[in-house]
Amino acid sequence: MRIGVLTGGGDCPGLNAVIRAVTKSLLRQCGAQVIGIEDGFAGLMGPVARTRKLDWASVSGILMQGGTILGTTNKANPMASAEATAQTLAHAHQLGLDALVVIGGDGSMAIAHGLAQQGLPIVGVPKTIDNDIVGCERSFGFDTAVATVTEALERIQTTGQSHSRVMIVETMGRYAGWIALEAGIAGAADAILLPEIDHDIETVARVCQAREQRERYTVICIGEGAKPLGGALTVERRIADSPDPIRLGGVAHALREQLQPLMRSEVRSTVLGHVQRGGSPTPFDRVLATQYGNQAAQLVMQGRFNRMVTLQRGQLGSIALADVAHRHRQVPLDHPLLLTARQIGVSLGD
Ligand code: F6P
Repeated sequence: MRIGVLTGGGDCPGLNAVIRAVTKSLLRQCGAQVIGIEDGFAGLMGPVARTRKLDWASVSGILMQGGTILGTTNKANPMASAEATAQTLAHAHQLGLDALVVIGGDGSMAIAHGLAQQGLPIVGVPKTIDNDIVGCERSFGFDTAVATVTEALERIQTTGQSHSRVMIVETMGRYAGWIALEAGIAGAADAILLPEIDHDIETVARVCQAREQRERYTVICIGEGAKPLGGALTVERRIADSPDPIRLGGVAHALREQLQPLMRSEVRSTVLGHVQRGGSPTPFDRVLATQYGNQAAQLVMQGRFNRMVTLQRGQLGSIALADVAHRHRQVPLDHPLLLTARQIGVSLGD
C-alpha cells in the first residue's frame, strides 16, 4: 500500500504527533509506504506534486515538536474549480496513493469529503485548537491552547491586580467559545464572554464596577467571535483566496472602548493571537494525537474510508465525512460548564 498524509488548514500543537503515529502504525503493521504531502492540499495542486517519504527516521523525535514537519496552508482548495479537482486527483493517481490521510479542521474535512466523492479514499483526523469539529468532543491541540491561555490569564491577574485595572484577554476559537470557556474557568476570569451568548455592555460594566469597590480589579476572558447584544462580529481581515476568508480579531479592543467610559479604573485589552497555536503539545494532546494517528491507520488498513476519526463519550470511533463537512460545533447553551461558571459567580455577560 502507498498512503499519503497531509496537514491542512491552520497549524496546531500535536500535528507532528499524529504524523508520527500514522506513519509508525502503517510501517509496523502492514509495511505500507507512507508519503508526506507538503503544504497541505497545495502539495497536490501545483504542476508537480510536492512530497517526501515518511519513514522511521523522518518521524523520529517529532512527538513533542509544535507545528507540522510537512508544512500547511489554509488557502489551497482543490474543490475551488473542476480544474483544481482534476489536477489534485491526477497527482494522487500518479503517486499511486491507495488512500490519503487528511489531518485538518472543518475546512479540510469539507475538501476531503469533496475529494472522497470523486473517488479518492480518505481518512480524516480532527485537528484544531478551536475544538469546534462536529461529532468530536476533543480535537487535539485544544488542550495545549487552553493551557497557554490559562497561563496568560494567570499573568494578567497579577498585573491587573497591581494596577487595579480591568483587563480584557481575547482568545481564538472562531465562532465557538470552547477555548475562552475552559481557559476562563481555569484562569479564574471574573467574566467569560462567548460567541454563543451575546453580552450586554451594561451587565459587564456592573460586574467590573462591583469588583472596583471590592477586589479593585477584574479579568475578562472573551472569545474572538463574541459580540455585544445587537452588535456585529469584529472582523480583523478578509483573505480572498482562503476557503474561509473571514479572520476574526480585535473584539477585546472594541470592548475596551465601550467599557472605558463606564469605568473609573483603567481598562486594558490583550489579544493573545497565534501564541495559542504554537509550541509543544501538552501530554494530553500528545496522547490524544497518538491515539488519533493510530486509529486513522487502523481505518486505512480496514479499508474504512471517507470517515473521520472521533472521540465521543471518551471512546475512539469514526464518523462519516459527510456528517462533518461544512459544519462547526459551538458550546451548547445547556453545557454543564456554563452552569458551573454561573453558579460560582462568573458572569457570562447576559
Ligand atoms: O481555526 C484555528 C484558528 O487559529 C482560529 O482560532 C483563528 O480564528 C484562525 O485560525 C486564525 O487563522 P489565521 O492563522 O489564518 O490568521
